[in-house]
Amino acid sequence: MSISGSSHNLIASVSLLDEQQTIDRIFTHIDEGTTDLGDTVWREPVENYHSQERFDAEIALLRRRPVPFCPSAGLSEIGSYIARKAAGTPLVAVRGRDGKVRAFINACRHRGMQVASGSGCSRAFVCPYHAWTYDLEGKLKAIRGPEAFPEVNICLLYTSDADDE
Ligand code: FES
Repeated sequence: MSISGSSHNLIASVSLLDEQQTIDRIFTHIDEGTTDLGDTVWREPVENYHSQERFDAEIALLRRRPVPFCPSAGLSEIGSYIARKAAGTPLVAVRGRDGKVRAFINACRHRGMQVASGSGCSRAFVCPYHAWTYDLEGKLKAIRGPEAFPEVNICLLYTSDADDE
């Protein structure tokens, strides 16, 4: 694998192993207690840790490609969830009542408060700010003090679905 470090070509020319090669390589490392090492000692320029341009390019790259979020075994039960950021975006993945795993932006529709943190198992997500409540499929189920939101139609707020198993 080679990665160019120039400012015009921050991330390029990465030769990737295919899936089987990757699996074989990982198992070989596990069996032999080894890891990948470069041919030479890599010295990362300190300025790369301060470069907004580099950071933006890396985030843009991560957002263009699918990235592993969590193992499905981590969401083994109905209501199991994992909330964390992916490429700077707070997400929550949860196994719904139908057994499907869905991922949502972890933000309340009211004022954007995160409705889940860490991991666990829940029957619903209750926003810690004003207690708007969402089901495991991301549907807004209840608004505390609905008289304060006369123009909010709960049925119209439901726009899911990126159903993935
Ligand atoms: S921000 Fe979630 S209920 Fe207000």
